[in-house]
Amino acid sequence: MTSLVPSPDGELPTLALPRSRGHAALRPDLIERRIGEFIEQAALTPNRNGFFLAARGTDAVPPVAALCIAYHWRDIARAFLLCALKGLGSMAEEASRGEPRPGLLRALQAAHAAIGDDLNNRLPAFRKAAPAGIAGIHYVWWQDSIVAPLLARCDAAERARGTAPSTAVDELLRQMQALSRSAIGVAVQLRVMELMAFDIAVAFRRVFGRVATGGRKVFAHRDDLAWIDAHLRAEAVHSRSMRDPDSGMAALADTAARQEDMLMHAAAFVKGWAAVLADFEHALSAR
Ligand SMILES: [Fe+2]
Ligand SMILES: [Fe+2]
Repeated sequence: MTSLVPSPDGELPTLALPRSRGHAALRPDLIERRIGEFIEQAALTPNRNGFFLAARGTDAVPPVAALCIAYHWRDIARAFLLCALKGLGSMAEEASRGEPRPGLLRALQAAHAAIGDDLNNRLPAFRKAAPAGIAGIHYVWWQDSIVAPLLARCDAAERARGTAPSTAVDELLRQMQALSRSAIGVAVQLRVMELMAFDIAVAFRRVFGRVATGGRKVFAHRDDLAWIDAHLRAEAVHSRSMRDPDSGMAALADTAARQEDMLMHAAAFVKGWAAVLADFEHALSAR
């Protein structure tokens, strides 16, 4: 008997997983591939996603449009860091119950290294660029170097518009809170988010590099977009480590039941991301 793991667009899945206990787990590379398919099906890839495509086509971006994106990105980056750290606790809690499985230990190592950079900037690309101390924590660095200059360029009405709540972002934050409560959940959060982080950094370079008011660029100096440039260099490394079938997040799902769990969470989480990027696309087009 097989269970049907929903694909993000509601179509029948191309990979159905065995539900019965004792059924052999699939190879981690097949789980990896299936998560990649979810991301493709949700059109979260650079050549299909509306926000990524719109970012390529923009010329001048008004500060209020950039603020709509930057303000919410700060909340997402903060939730990502803090929920992933909580999630490391979920992995450690599972590992502490007995002799930990090798897949769990490998995932714990990889997850700790990737999210550790958002807090402590150990990768050289971050170490060179990030401010010292707590100002270098990624969401704080983003707030100070991107959000604050945009707020300063907006009037009160624009600030209200640029910081208006987003249902899609609220839902993504809720998902991250829920995912952090289990080892499989946080593995999904890291696997999807670290991949998105690179493509988002590419799009952000285009958008924030073109923010202008009165014919003058807001981020005009070479180091003004250091947050984005450092992420362009580093996120390819994080994403690769998350996707490694032997030591990445899929290695954690070493039974059929865990694999099913991982794919269910991944299907829901990519949907959440698609909604957030649709919001970002709207912010760019509604100016
Ligand atoms: Fe980061
Ligand atoms: Fe990262």
